[in-house]
Amino acid sequence: MSTVAIVYHSGYGHTAALADFVAEGVKAGGGTPVVVKLESAAQDFSAALEAVTKADAVIFGSPTYMGDVSSPMRAFMEATAKVWFTAGWKDKLASGFTVGASFGGNKDHTLTSMIVFSMQHGMLWAGPAVPNANINRNESAGGDQPNRIGAALGVVTQAENAAADVTPPAGDKEFARLLGVRIAGLAKKLKA
Ligand SMILES: Cc1cc2nc3c(=O)[nH]c(=O)nc-3n(C[C@H](O)[C@H](O)[C@H](O)COP(=O)(O)O)c2cc1C
Repeated sequence: MSTVAIVYHSGYGHTAALADFVAEGVKAGGGTPVVVKLESAAQDFSAALEAVTKADAVIFGSPTYMGDVSSPMRAFMEATAKVWFTAGWKDKLASGFTVGASFGGNKDHTLTSMIVFSMQHGMLWAGPAVPNANINRNESAGGDQPNRIGAALGVVTQAENAAADVTPPAGDKEFARLLGVRIAGLAKKLKA
């Protein structure tokens, strides 16, 4: 069985809600999720680093703040320098998810930061491979469908200014779940 570390930060609970769905997907895909929440940029990252080192795959989750990963996620990335020096995470499978309040909101840039970081480590980045939702402009904004935003780099979602149990909508949460299923399945294949 493959282990998938889900390392995320969430200031207001929306990324945390998505992380739960990613973990559910990992289980549905036959893997074991190990969920690690980053609390602050000033924390000790040893436990998070160890969880990723032990895992077969890692899925990063960050809200988009100012068009990029949040500061605890950036601090975590910088705390991996020692692992980077020894290529400790080379060939590990990686993916990511984000949420923002805007439909655009430069959320692809957040994923690009995660991708550049993963490539610096020599990890293998995989996108969600979920087809874009087919949204008719006369219908709703597609909140019940996965990948309503048309994301290929990772899971991109959108949350209103409301509590995490009501937003992001069900389709976005399903998109997050499908990422977990895919990464667990790919991790199993890579391990075989
Ligand atoms: C400091 C700050 C910067 C933000 N910048 C963006 C942004 O660039 N793009 C965007 O779409 N949303 C932006 N947002 C909105 C958040 O991404 C959104 O509220 C998200 O749901 C927060 O996730 P969280 O609850 O996991 O913290 C920003 C919010 C804050 C607090």
